[in-house]
Order: sequence, then C-alpha cells, then structure tokens
Amino acid sequence: MAILKIARMGHPVLSQPAKPVPDPRALEIHNLVNDMIETMRDANGAGLAAPQVHVPLRVVVFQAPTGRADPGLSEEERFDHTAPLTVLINPEIQVLDPAPEGGWEGCLSVPGLRGWVERPAHIRYRGVGLEGEVIERVARGFHARVVQHECDHLDGRLYVSRMTDLSRLIFESEIAHFQAAS
Ligand code: NI
Repeated sequence: MAILKIARMGHPVLSQPAKPVPDPRALEIHNLVNDMIETMRDANGAGLAAPQVHVPLRVVVFQAPTGRADPGLSEEERFDHTAPLTVLINPEIQVLDPAPEGGWEGCLSVPGLRGWVERPAHIRYRGVGLEGEVIERVARGFHARVVQHECDHLDGRLYVSRMTDLSRLIFESEIAHFQAAS
C-alpha cells in the first residue's frame, strides 16, 4: 500500500474523461483501490476518484458516514443518506428527482477551498465492485452529493465548474461566516 500524490486543479488528468475498467478483478485494480483508500484516509477525504491520483480509469471510492447525515432523519430515511466505504467501478448515475439541493463541497484536488454547489438530491447509482458484483443503490443528501462529485471527476469535471455563484467559493477557514449567516 502507498499514499499516492494527488493531482491538483490545473493538471490535465483532471479535465479528461476517464476510461472504463475492462476487468474489475484485475490485480492492478485491487492495488490501485487499496492505494486510493489509503490516500483518501490520509488526506481525510470523503471520496477519491482515480484521475485524482493520475490514473484515468473509471474507479471511485467514497463513504457517507452517519455523522454527515442530517440528525433530524428517521432511521429509515437515514438508510439512503449514508453509505459504508464503497468501491465503485464503471459507475452510472440516474437522477430520480432533478430538484436541486445546495451544499458546501471540498475536493482534495482543490485544497483549502469550499464551494456552494447545487445538485439533484435524489439519485440512483449503479456500478460494479472489486469482485465484479453489481452495486446498485438509491442515494439522498450527502450520500447523493459525494457520489455525484466523485463521478464528475470521471468525466473531467471539478465542483467549481458546477457552481453558479462564485461569491460562494471561499477558503475553508472562513466557512464559519457563512454557516453563522444561514
Ligand atoms: Ni473531488
């Protein structure tokens, strides 16, 4: 296992579409995923996409822990809002409700900043895991957001390009000013 170097905004690998993985069970994909998980944890991120470690393949890892879900949710509602550590290969997203929901996002490729991004809050996603098994889930809230953010990386997009109001692109050290106001 190794901690990999993370590409930062401006590196061409972040702006090109990534290629599908022909064999999710290949040893090099297992090794890549292990290194991505170690890199994500070291950097304290909620997700990481392979292009962020200079590998242009359609692989993402992410988690949506209970602590990130709205505390007002019932246990049943919480199910769609949370996800364990997940490896998703060749993912596809279907929007179930296009009504946008805003939230603050950060990205390990855009260090030190946060941006307010509106995205559909209710999606279904589908992909395969490391054993080739199909993973299909419905996601809401932070869970839906992190999956869309990571899958955007596979299409060469950073969250900044999803923003409609750049006055809400801020240093993370200043986010308390916005949370106090909202
Ligand atoms: Ni990111």
